Amino acid sequence: MKNMHLLSLFLISLLPLTLAQSNALRSLPYYQMALKTFRSIDTNRNNVIERNESIANFESFKQNPKDTEINRDWFIRRVTHVYGLNSSVASSLYNQYDQDNNGVVNETDYKLMYRAFDKDRNERLTIDEFIRADNNMLIAVGAPEPRGK
Ligand SMILES: *[C@@H]1O[C@H](CO)[C@@H](O)[C@H](O)[C@H]1NC(C)=O
Ligand SMILES: *[C@@H]1O[C@H](CO)[C@@H](O)[C@H](O)[C@H]1NC(C)=O
Ligand SMILES: *[C@@H]1O[C@H](CO)[C@@H](O)[C@H](O)[C@H]1NC(C)=O
Repeated sequence: MKNMHLLSLFLISLLPLTLAQSNALRSLPYYQMALKTFRSIDTNRNNVIERNESIANFESFKQNPKDTEINRDWFIRRVTHVYGLNSSVASSLYNQYDQDNNGVVNETDYKLMYRAFDKDRNERLTIDEFIRADNNMLIAVGAPEPRGK
């Protein structure tokens, strides 16, 4: 009983902080877009992207199962279709994904991106980590701010 009480005090004290944090996240320009991406990668819906979910996302993004990379044209087609970005912005986004700047996006780049996004290096990409990093990428490529914001 006493522990229950302590727990509820703890939860109440945590609440404003969590809300403040999620408000800061929600106010990011590309929050909705980043959240949509997060949800599509977090297939087990535990609100964390594990390393293998990131790799599975790479695998499903490829044009053909046998490909070892996501080719630029395919990436541009998918991104313009799913996110409504134009092809020049989509192409810049491809360059961002190409973390080692060798002109192709493959599993190596996904691993590098995972490390870069996973700020605390605990092999768990939280919604918070993902949205902030993805938002920064979309700012870097000059994506148009979504309407209705
Ligand atoms: C990731 O690994 C866990 C633990 O082995 C497994 O349960 C889960 O299905 C895997 N997810 C994907 C997307 O491969
Ligand atoms: C990704 O491509 C680079 C350059 O072709 C290559 O060195 C690297 O081994 C590739 N990574 C994988 C996982 O195939
Ligand atoms: C693509 O979209 C960006 C951002 O809205 C804009 O600045 C750019 O002019 C557009 N490019 C083309 C070719 O339409």
